[in-house]
Amino acid sequence: MTLLVTGGAGYIGSHTVRALQQAGHHPVVLDNLVYGHRSIVEEVLRVPLVQGQVGDRALIEALLSGRHPACGGVPVQAVLHFAAYAYVGESVLDPAKYYRNNLGDTLTLLEALVEPVRTGRGPAIPIVFSSTCATYGSPETVPITEDTPQRPINSYGRSKWMVEQMLADFATAYKLPSVIFRYFNAAGADPAGDLGEDHNPETHLIPLVLDAIAGRRETIKIFGTDYPTPDGTCLRDYIHVSDLADAHVLGLEHLLAGASPQPMEPLIFNLGTGTAYSVQEVLTVAQDVTQLPLTAVVAPRRPGDPPTLVASAQKAREVLGWEPRYPDLGEIIAHAWAWHQRSSATP
Ligand SMILES: NC(=O)c1ccc[n+]([C@@H]2O[C@H](COP(=O)([O-])OP(=O)(O)OC[C@H]3O[C@@H](n4cnc5c(N)ncnc54)[C@H](O)[C@@H]3O)[C@@H](O)[C@H]2O)c1
Repeated sequence: MTLLVTGGAGYIGSHTVRALQQAGHHPVVLDNLVYGHRSIVEEVLRVPLVQGQVGDRALIEALLSGRHPACGGVPVQAVLHFAAYAYVGESVLDPAKYYRNNLGDTLTLLEALVEPVRTGRGPAIPIVFSSTCATYGSPETVPITEDTPQRPINSYGRSKWMVEQMLADFATAYKLPSVIFRYFNAAGADPAGDLGEDHNPETHLIPLVLDAIAGRRETIKIFGTDYPTPDGTCLRDYIHVSDLADAHVLGLEHLLAGASPQPMEPLIFNLGTGTAYSVQEVLTVAQDVTQLPLTAVVAPRRPGDPPTLVASAQKAREVLGWEPRYPDLGEIIAHAWAWHQRSSATP
């Protein structure tokens, strides 16, 4: 089945493209390449890549209808929408950029998906949407279930929360089928070693720790050691990127089987392992895995960092039959390290 994967040249999108291929689908990637990597799509995944913007309505329509050469005349049957900007700090300094890209472009995409309904030509085209635990803000209780109140505390989280609201309204009005995945901390790399995390700039803890271990940065900062947690550092739920990718295949197949709730509303799932690891534990496990030392520096807490973010991922297990294959932090870091060494060796 032909699928449009927006942001498929990025970290989570590229791993999901592989999982979709392995499940027998035909993904076509749309990415503006602001952060994505052409070579990953063209040389590693070897699927069609269209460089363009999700907010380009004419381009989206050409892709959805199959008129675009990348689709080879076959209409797109569903969309997996990863494309977004995801730098929390930047979103606070430049919210316009985030609302334009994450919300404005997504509205254009959703309008195209429901165009058949608005013109009486047929049903809406289903969508799987990448949301985030950042939509919960600083929750009062953990583990976080899908019913935990959403109170995002930055523009990035709000842009994702607003798309969730649009998906709910579009489900009611246009019967748009959707799955919303709220990821916790995506980490790791494909065990095959040829795909991995390559954000620039990088803000995620595990690749930063590995950079410090490899000598690409001098130290790693621990922001706050006085949180109400066992070792005083923040607790997070790290989910292997290949497990996220698997969940997308299951979520997509669930949608295409017509399993949306009635009356129509988005199907919402947290994606985490349900286990929290502290920043200090990440540092310790990374040194164990790599057998290399690391210099850590204690810095003050960052505003807006909750002490603990951990998912209840029961719903995805129960409804989709999803089971993380790599829940162990050591394995997540080992895969990330294998990718890190390979990508550092490549000029
Ligand atoms: N990485 C995480 O831990 C995490 C956690 C929660 C949610 N998410 C969400 O998952 C998705 C993927 O995250 P990622 O870490 O793979 O990010 P990424 O930056 O690696 O991938 C996003 C891709 O989208 C592209 N893109 C952005 N805006 C676009 C637009 N308007 N049109 C076309 N292409 C566009 C970028 O060039 C990039 O290749 C994002 O929506 C992000 O908000 C990520």
